[in-house]
Amino acid sequence: MRLHILQAHGETALKEAVLADKKRGMSDPEIGARYGISFNTLQQIITEAYGANISVLQRPKRIKRWEPFSFREETTTVWSFKQRGDWATHNGRYRGNWSPYIPRNVILKYSKPGDLVLDYFVGGGTTAVEAKLLGRRCIARDINPGAVGITLENLRFSPPRLGTGMAEPIYEPEVQVGDARDLSDISENSVDLICAHPPYAGIIRYSTKILGDLSALSVPDFLREMRKVAQESLRVLKPGGKCAILLGDARRAKHVIPIGFQTIRVFLDAGFGLKELVIKRQHNCRTTGFWYARSIQHNFLLLAHEYLPIFEKPLTAVSREQLPLWRETVSYWLSREEVTEAEKENLETTTVWIFPENRLDAEMRRNLIQRFCSRGYFLEVQYDEREDLRLGETHANALFIRWPPLLMTEPRFAGYRDLVVRLARESCDGIPSGAFLIVEAMDFRSEGRLIPSGLLLYEALRGQRHLSLKEIVIVVPETPPSNEPEENLKIIHRYLLVYLRK
Ligand SMILES: C[S@@+](CC[C@H](N)C(=O)[O-])C[C@H]1O[C@@H](n2cnc3c(N)ncnc32)[C@H](O)[C@@H]1O
Repeated sequence: MRLHILQAHGETALKEAVLADKKRGMSDPEIGARYGISFNTLQQIITEAYGANISVLQRPKRIKRWEPFSFREETTTVWSFKQRGDWATHNGRYRGNWSPYIPRNVILKYSKPGDLVLDYFVGGGTTAVEAKLLGRRCIARDINPGAVGITLENLRFSPPRLGTGMAEPIYEPEVQVGDARDLSDISENSVDLICAHPPYAGIIRYSTKILGDLSALSVPDFLREMRKVAQESLRVLKPGGKCAILLGDARRAKHVIPIGFQTIRVFLDAGFGLKELVIKRQHNCRTTGFWYARSIQHNFLLLAHEYLPIFEKPLTAVSREQLPLWRETVSYWLSREEVTEAEKENLETTTVWIFPENRLDAEMRRNLIQRFCSRGYFLEVQYDEREDLRLGETHANALFIRWPPLLMTEPRFAGYRDLVVRLARESCDGIPSGAFLIVEAMDFRSEGRLIPSGLLLYEALRGQRHLSLKEIVIVVPETPPSNEPEENLKIIHRYLLVYLRK
């Protein structure tokens, strides 16, 4: 079909035919098959024609409700929304827009009515709509005039007086075209909360010709430009103000590219403190049939989580966070297990592993063994016991370094980090090529700060040239205790950093 239209009428006719079918409601895969074009080409045709990357061409229908059903604020570090949320004017039309549950939680937790909220990557306006509904002032910007147009369209509503019944004022957001890297027209110390969702590194292209659109950049260029965003964010926020940024990883050649951790580091280096590190689960993952078989056959996990760090502008300017230099003595023991043909069924296929609390440890080990140690020895290193052992040459096919069972403190963490680095170094000779090194980590709080141990261990291992990061897995107990909102979220997730010995 494509060739025929191209030969007969040229590129313009092909685009018109594609857009006409899209307008008629034909699905993206059907269009792809009919015209022999990729999903990326289809997105490009739509973005060029409409000035924004939208998934449906029709305008959204009337408003069904003003609030989510039985909303409860999140209380732990793992956020999971089965439905994306369709109250007020929210809809999935702007491609890659975030679920309104995210800005709703962030705005309710970190601002009060009348406060000023800034979203400089506003896209289709989700944050601006929530700010308006919740009685916050809002500056909403995007580099793409097409996105600004959609935001304005989504803000065309007058909400009824909700909640307390008190006549809270409604503030109309200020919506403008603008570049997140240059907020020079916003004065310093003036914003209460930043809540934004950047277009990380080429995963979705948001425009075709707009200079400064970060969605067109490679990962290193994206990180460099985000440094400017972080510096500007720090300048405009009030001391103590929060900055919530949603980030995701990418995958190349069956290895994870940890854009999330790398961007968090950019914000910490700019001078932010870290208040929370939330894991946001993604539900659009394909986990059965073809994808299950592929994930097992090629041994990779489908990305099923994003990171939502909540940064905080320090009350007084401080230099970058430093862990203390002193160490506790490190001692540990090794346990060696010969791998037998254990149950190979029902393995996890995504990066988020959720197990019942009482079987969490066993299920985690079963999945690790089956995924990363199908033969030979599975060697487990437990920190904080009596003996002091050297790794030596083990012939293990997987080396699993366990997070200490004791309450974590900064000095103990420094000791654990030393152990991990030393064993990683020794693994160069200690485990064969093709084997895996797995490091367990859990964020913890110390003197009011969140210590992002997954990120810090990833950074500590970056110099080990014989190891390549294969996966970042998030492990979560199935039924986290339900509790009332408190100042800090309850940390319930842990990380498994999985490295391949090259
Ligand atoms: C992931 S989308 C945001 C979606 C938004 N949270 C929503 O719910 O609709 C990222 C947005 O960043 C915008 N963008 C890219 N580079 C930018 C820049 N330098 N300054 C401001 N906006 C930019 C893109 O146009 C895109 O709309």
